[in-house]
Amino acid sequence: MLTMLDLELGVWVNLRSGERVLIRRFRRTDGEALYEFFTKGLSPESQRLYSVQPLDRSLVNAVVSEADAPDVLRLVAFCGDKIVGYAYWRQQLFNPKMPLLSIAVADGHQGLGLGQALMELLIEGAKLKGMEGIELHVFKHNRRAIALYRKLGFEIVGDTDNGRQWIMVLLFNRNER
Ligand SMILES: CC(C)(COP(=O)(O)OP(=O)(O)OC[C@H]1O[C@@H](n2cnc3c(N)ncnc32)[C@H](O)[C@@H]1OP(=O)(O)O)[C@@H](O)C(=O)NCCC(=O)NCCS
Repeated sequence: MLTMLDLELGVWVNLRSGERVLIRRFRRTDGEALYEFFTKGLSPESQRLYSVQPLDRSLVNAVVSEADAPDVLRLVAFCGDKIVGYAYWRQQLFNPKMPLLSIAVADGHQGLGLGQALMELLIEGAKLKGMEGIELHVFKHNRRAIALYRKLGFEIVGDTDNGRQWIMVLLFNRNER
């Protein structure tokens, strides 16, 4: 069974390409690699699908400054010394047992099973931390992401105020937590 220590030290995952990546918790020293991932690993289209915020230095600085925050579980996937995948959940103030998830995989590593591996580890981490489920928001035209989320059991429960994104939720069974 997975433990939080496994996530600190890292879990090796085999991709469909034959490459092995190490997925582990984000560390303060990962800031530069994260900046490279945001600006070089993600195409403009992937950047738009991932975030409405600019993926710039100030965002990376904010991520680094909260690297040890207890209400966030942030994972990075390393292929050699490059980050090729990044995903996290953060507890929401109004619904702290239902954290909000976000994920991006480098364009060169999409479709190889990495997104699914990151999601599964974030889900396990949420269960270990006593969460009741996970929520996420996804643009309605992002078919690849929606297919992945459905495969993992997420269901559409509504849409966001501007109507552009689905709100999807995965509820853990009580006996799984
Ligand atoms: C969405 C994203 C995270 C998925 O990660 P990924 O590593 O590409 O996905 P995986 O290889 O793990 O695929 C898992 C499942 O997603 C679906 N999927 C993958 N590629 C797909 C494609 N081209 N078209 C449709 N569905 C696809 C399949 O159900 C797949 O399962 P399968 O391989 O057993 O068929 C990644 O593509 C990405 O970062 N995209 C850009 C940013 C983004 O959209 N982020 C999400 C914002 S909500």
